[in-house]
Amino acid sequence: MRRMMVAGNWKLNQGPAAGRELAAGVQARLEGRTLRGEVLCCPPFVTIPAVSAVAQGEPVLVGAQDCSDQASGAYTGQVSAAMLAEAGCTHVIVAHSERRQYQKETDDLFVAKIDRVHEAGMTAIFCFGELLEERQAGREEEVVEAQLSGVLPRLASATAENLILAYEPVWAIGTGETATPEIAQHMHLVSRAEAGRILGEDTAARLRILYGGSCKPGNAAELFGQTDVDGGLIGGASLKVDDFVAIVEAAETAMGG
Ligand code: PGA
Repeated sequence: MRRMMVAGNWKLNQGPAAGRELAAGVQARLEGRTLRGEVLCCPPFVTIPAVSAVAQGEPVLVGAQDCSDQASGAYTGQVSAAMLAEAGCTHVIVAHSERRQYQKETDDLFVAKIDRVHEAGMTAIFCFGELLEERQAGREEEVVEAQLSGVLPRLASATAENLILAYEPVWAIGTGETATPEIAQHMHLVSRAEAGRILGEDTAARLRILYGGSCKPGNAAELFGQTDVDGGLIGGASLKVDDFVAIVEAAETAMGG
């Protein structure tokens, strides 16, 4: 059975003081528990040390929302994967739709970033998903397959352990609109099949695929109950302790806890 993950993507929220408080709230609620799944918080860069100080490993892991495609050097404003690992991160989100849209990031960059994450001994969470107009045109499967086939075959050392996929339909992110469990399951199945063609069936069967897009306490159980949904990447609802912990509990229940 694949181990579920509930990952909070804090986006551009929570400076060090607020981040420490949020992480401490989550940690206090889960402390001493042996969870079946994994829990991850991904604060802004400057908040990572404050969060690492209160969430030292399981049950609450710390991740970053992005990293440089370069290892070091004259790259003003960038943060390397190795620095994030040193600061306590175990995971890095790559290719979030907001970075695709606002920073115009491309497949070449995603490949380099994921390779840097792997070189630093961390796990990459690779995001992908179709736009509303692509779904309306009936192109969602083709779009998702292209997003996966543009990156996965070129990775130097991807395994089921150091790579997690996150299907995030852009029309569901921050909109309050969630994919139905049926849509999520279907798209995860399509994604797993494509990953199987690229990385091999054995790896694909063990690869975790998270769902992201307005996942909240009221819909998490149904989403996580789908065969190919292995947890969630949570934006808005990760900023409230009660909501985030309720989603963690939904994952625990889905794993039989
Ligand atoms: P949301 O964001 O839960 O606020 O829709 C999800 C994400 O962008 O990862």
